[in-house]
Amino acid sequence: MSEPVRRQKPLDILILAAGLGTRMRSATAKVLHEVGGRPLIGYVCRAAAALDPEKICVVVGHQADDVRAAVISQLEPVVPEFAVQEKQLGTGDAVLSAKHVFSDRDSVILVLSGDVPLIRPETLAALVSCHESHRGRGAACTILSVKLKDPTGYGRIIRDSEGRFTRIVEERDATPEEREINEVNAGIYCFDTRLLFSALEKVSNRNAQGEYYLTDVPEILRNEGHDVAIYKHTDQQEIEGVNNRLQLSEIERLLRRRIIRKLMLDYGVTFIDPKSAYISDEANFGRDVIIYPNVTVEGVSQIGDGTVIRSGSRITNSKIGRSVTILDNCVITDSVIEDNCSVGPFAHLRGGALMKNGSKVGNFVELKKTVLGCGSKANHLTYLGDAEIGENTNIGAGTITCNYDGVRKHQTKIGNKVKIGSDTMLVAPVTVGDGASTGAGAVVTKDVEPGRLVIGVPARPLEKKRSADEE
Ligand code: UD1
Ligand code: MG
Repeated sequence: MSEPVRRQKPLDILILAAGLGTRMRSATAKVLHEVGGRPLIGYVCRAAAALDPEKICVVVGHQADDVRAAVISQLEPVVPEFAVQEKQLGTGDAVLSAKHVFSDRDSVILVLSGDVPLIRPETLAALVSCHESHRGRGAACTILSVKLKDPTGYGRIIRDSEGRFTRIVEERDATPEEREINEVNAGIYCFDTRLLFSALEKVSNRNAQGEYYLTDVPEILRNEGHDVAIYKHTDQQEIEGVNNRLQLSEIERLLRRRIIRKLMLDYGVTFIDPKSAYISDEANFGRDVIIYPNVTVEGVSQIGDGTVIRSGSRITNSKIGRSVTILDNCVITDSVIEDNCSVGPFAHLRGGALMKNGSKVGNFVELKKTVLGCGSKANHLTYLGDAEIGENTNIGAGTITCNYDGVRKHQTKIGNKVKIGSDTMLVAPVTVGDGASTGAGAVVTKDVEPGRLVIGVPARPLEKKRSADEE
C-alpha cells in the first residue's frame, strides 16, 4: 500500500448526468434507469460522497427535475450543487456548463460520468492520489484507463512510441488501426480545476458526432506543455458504462455478484444458488443465514442470525430477527418479525405488520398494520388488518377482520389466550377480551367480554364463562 498523499488543494467533484441516453431507447433519462433497485446516478453520487469532497456538482439537462430529485435523495444528507446544460452538445460542453460553480476554485476536480455506476470510492481515491503525487508536484490531468478484451464503444488511449499519452480518440473518429487499441478511457478523470476550464474554451466540435468532447482536453493540456498522467486500473468491471439495455442487465448481474460475494465471504451467509438471489446493497445480514433459490431482499432490510429464507420469498424494507423461518413464496413489506417466528408458505405481511417473538403465521395468511403477540398463531387462510392481538392467542382457519366499512378502516383488538374459532368474522371496531373464544362461523359485531364464549350470526354469548387460565 502506498502512503496516503496529503491533499495540497481541496477536492471538488463534478458528475455528468445531462445526456439523453439515446441508445437506451427509453422515455426515461439514462441515469435514472435502475440497477439493484437504485438509479444509476445514485451509485456514482454515493461513491463521490465517500471521498468527502468540498463541493459536489451534478450537471443536469435531459429530464433535469427528475434527475435533480434523484440526486438529492441519493446524496442525503450531503447537499449537492447543480449546473444546467440546456442543450446536450457533448461531455466537454457539459463540464463547461458548470464553469460558474468552480470559477474561483483553486482545487483538484474529479470528473465522473453518471453512467459508470460500479466505480468504487477506493479506486477514485487512488486516482486522486496518483494525480496529486505525479512527479512530486501533481499533474494537470490524470485519466483513468483500463485494458478491455472488447473495447468497442469506448474512447481509446493513444500513446506515442515511448508509451507517453498523446490523445484520446472516440470510437466513431478512430481509424481501423486505432480501434485495435484496447486501452480505453473510463470517462473518469482528475484535473487541475483552472486548467480544465481554460482548456475547455479551446475544444471544438469538429468530429464525427459534432459534439464538444471532454476527451479533447487532455490533448490540449499536453500540447500546452502540461503533464497528463494515466492511472491504469485493472478491474475492467468497475468502469463498465451503461449505454444500452444489454449493458444495464450486465451491470445488474455484476452488482448482484459483488453484493452476494461480500455477504458470503465477510458475513457468513449461505446462498444455495447465488445466481438466483437479488439482494439490495442496503440489506444487513447476521451470521448463518441461509438463503434458498429465488429470494429477493430489497431496500433497507435486516436479517438476523440463523434465519432461513426459503425459495421464492421477497422481503422489502423489513426487519427480520434471529432464528426465523420464512417458508416458500412469502411477500414481506415494511414489516418487523421478531426472533423465533415462523412465516408461510404463501404468507403476505405488509404495511407495518409486527410479529412478536415466537409467533407464527401460516399459509395464505395476510397481515396488514397488525401486531401478532408473542407465541400467538394464525396458521391458515386468514386476513388480519388493523388489528392488535395479544399473547398466546390462536386465530382459527379462515378468520377475517372486517376492518373496512366502505369509508373508513377500524381496529380489532384481541386479548391474550383467546381462541378465535374457524371462519370467524370480526366486524371492526370490535374487542375480544382475554381468554374469550368464538365459535366456528361466528360473526362478531359487539365486544366480547373476557372469558366469554360467543357463537352464531350475529355472535351472542353462551351463558357459561370460561376462566382466562383455562386451556
Ligand atoms: C464517454 C467518453 C469515452 C469513454 C466513455 C466511458 C466522451 C466524448 N467520450 O463516451 O471516451 O470511453 O465515456 O464510459 O466523453 N453527458 C452530458 N451531456 C452531454 C453528453 C453526455 O451530461 O451533452 C453525460 C451523460 O449523461 C453521461 C456522460 O456524460 O453520464 C457520458 O456520456 P456518454 O454519451 O455516455 O458518453 P460515451 O459515449 O459513453
Ligand atoms: Mg457512456
